[in-house]
Amino acid sequence: MSTEERSVGSATGVAEAGSATGPAESTDVRASVALDGLGSLRRSHSCGHVGTDLVDQEVVVIGWVHRRRDHGGVVFADLRDRTGLVQVVFRPDENAEAHARAESLRSEFVIAARGVVKRRSDDTINPNLPTGEIEVVAAELRILNTAVPPPFPIEDETGVDESIRLRHRIHDLRRAPLQRNLERRHILAQAFRRKLDELGFLEIETPILAKATPEGARDFLVPSRLNPGEFYALPQSPQLMKQLLMMSGFERYFQVSRAFRDENQRADRQFEFTQIDLEMSFVGEDDVLEVLEELTCFVAKAVDIQLPRPFPRLTHADCMARYGIDRPDTRIQLELVELTDLFRESEFRAFRAAVDAGGIVKCLPIADADALSRGDIDRLETLAKKELGARGLAWIRVNADGTWQSPIVKFLSDAEKEAISERCAVAPGSLLFFQADAADRANAILARLRVDLGERLGRTDGRAWDPLFVVDFPVFERADDGSLTYMHMPFVAPREEDLPLLDENPEAVRATHYDVVLNGTELGSGSLRNHRSDIQRRVLEVLGYSKDEMESQFGFLLNALDSGAPPHGGFAFGYDRVVMILCGADSLRDVVAFPKTQRGQDLLMDSPTPVSAAQLEELSIQVLAQEGEE
Ligand code: AMO
Ligand code: AMP
Repeated sequence: MSTEERSVGSATGVAEAGSATGPAESTDVRASVALDGLGSLRRSHSCGHVGTDLVDQEVVVIGWVHRRRDHGGVVFADLRDRTGLVQVVFRPDENAEAHARAESLRSEFVIAARGVVKRRSDDTINPNLPTGEIEVVAAELRILNTAVPPPFPIEDETGVDESIRLRHRIHDLRRAPLQRNLERRHILAQAFRRKLDELGFLEIETPILAKATPEGARDFLVPSRLNPGEFYALPQSPQLMKQLLMMSGFERYFQVSRAFRDENQRADRQFEFTQIDLEMSFVGEDDVLEVLEELTCFVAKAVDIQLPRPFPRLTHADCMARYGIDRPDTRIQLELVELTDLFRESEFRAFRAAVDAGGIVKCLPIADADALSRGDIDRLETLAKKELGARGLAWIRVNADGTWQSPIVKFLSDAEKEAISERCAVAPGSLLFFQADAADRANAILARLRVDLGERLGRTDGRAWDPLFVVDFPVFERADDGSLTYMHMPFVAPREEDLPLLDENPEAVRATHYDVVLNGTELGSGSLRNHRSDIQRRVLEVLGYSKDEMESQFGFLLNALDSGAPPHGGFAFGYDRVVMILCGADSLRDVVAFPKTQRGQDLLMDSPTPVSAAQLEELSIQVLAQEGEE
């Protein structure tokens, strides 16, 4: 459907974006319109389904007036429902009364029209509209409701600010792209359910008023009126509950579950989101990955996307080394090069200092990079410093004559230059970017440059879809304060062969954790779990939990493990992300009906809001004065 076809004619008066009600003139029009009931009319066809096969038949269509035009005595209304648009014509000579009433139609009025489907004359066919070869010549019009002028046109493309779209989400959701996204969301949910049912998974609900599960984000807490001073935590995931279901003998569980995490919002993160959560008993890693691949391909196919199989398996270590990130888009044909060892004894202070501090030196080499100007490089350096916290962005450009142009070349020894040339396959036209920093920051910066530059320079292999598994994540990682913490959660089973390392070198212990990555987005993750309480206790011990803390926080789990826990493992898809990627959307907010803003606000219903003193008292809660308040 073309943008033009979906636009609301200015004749019908679009309210200024952001204003809640329309101009007074339109309000008056509403007041003067007498409303009808449906009477005996029943919808016979959806707007988008009125086709040439219905020519000369009578139909009843019901929907919103997308646009009304007055052409010398003939009124045309594009009528819109969920399925599309159809043109309804009101001619004074066909039905004078309907025509007279049609004059009062405005955008977003809700109407029912009865009429006969007619083929349009050749010169009025609209090739951009699926129903563009026909029109409905109205014999009866019923105005079911009026509407204030919309705050912005109900078009596919809208330039209006997202905050205005979110405040007027009702109108926003009437736009075809969002209608289509939510329809796909539904199709995908049904596909997940169908396949999981077929594979023998039982759908079981778990509590929302729950207990904190460590998934790494802050909890949303709910005060308990009956237990003053005590709080439920909304689940960050149903993790422990699904494990308990395995111990309860259900063998295969799934749930379309809501999860709540108080963490900084991003395009791919919402406070509340949906997981397709699953867990299986009596399985090893391969069994779970097999189910995941089958499931992912099945649901993608439900929206006509064919994913290539088998999904390649990349280890976490390999991903970090080659792409600097644990969710690589491997369609981008650029890879990072490790140079740390070259700079252990280097005279180049900036690089040497990073290595001395336990960091790394890595390079992103780009062949034939003449398209990148010096200005581009400077802009990249500013971006790396300002947005990504880089200390600098060293670079070397290789001229056509093989000479090097670079702010750092004067610091490099001949041996270093030679080694860089060789490892980075340097040739005339090459451009190399360097990071010397703590490993996570250096990798994150180069990973970002890799994607930005790969897309900009068109260094992709042309595949539309790039699904893969990332496996062999570490169990533990170092927190900012240097202490040992879990990378995902404390219930992940270490690989059996790495168990001896728990004592000697916990950081080297590999987990049975796996992620599904599609086009550079983590769709979901999972692992085998500790089903033996001795191993679970040992992992908690390495994490620094005392015996008392273990009992108070995880006593119920440890007891359940001792009651005959089957080996089990599972996974959770971030369903919103699955929908986002398979819809080609850029933000979760475009695949969620009522999303929250960056600041966690619901602009439509206006939440969060303060509550009454009485309500707080009932919950035994006192609110501290905020800064700037008395
Ligand atoms: P994890 O924490 O990786 O695993 O979450 C699973 C998937 O959920 C998605 N996701 C999010 N989507 C939107 N907004 C968010 N704030 C958000 N946070 C995560 C991601 C992620 O891959 N219990 C484990 C699963 C398991 O081991 O079975 C878990 O929750 O796509
Ligand atoms: P300096 O000697 O600090 O002027 O740095 C020389 C060049 O190296 C500049 O282009 C800096 O952007 C770059 N640079 C400095 N520190 C780092 C670092 N830690 N990683 C990568 N490049 C750096």
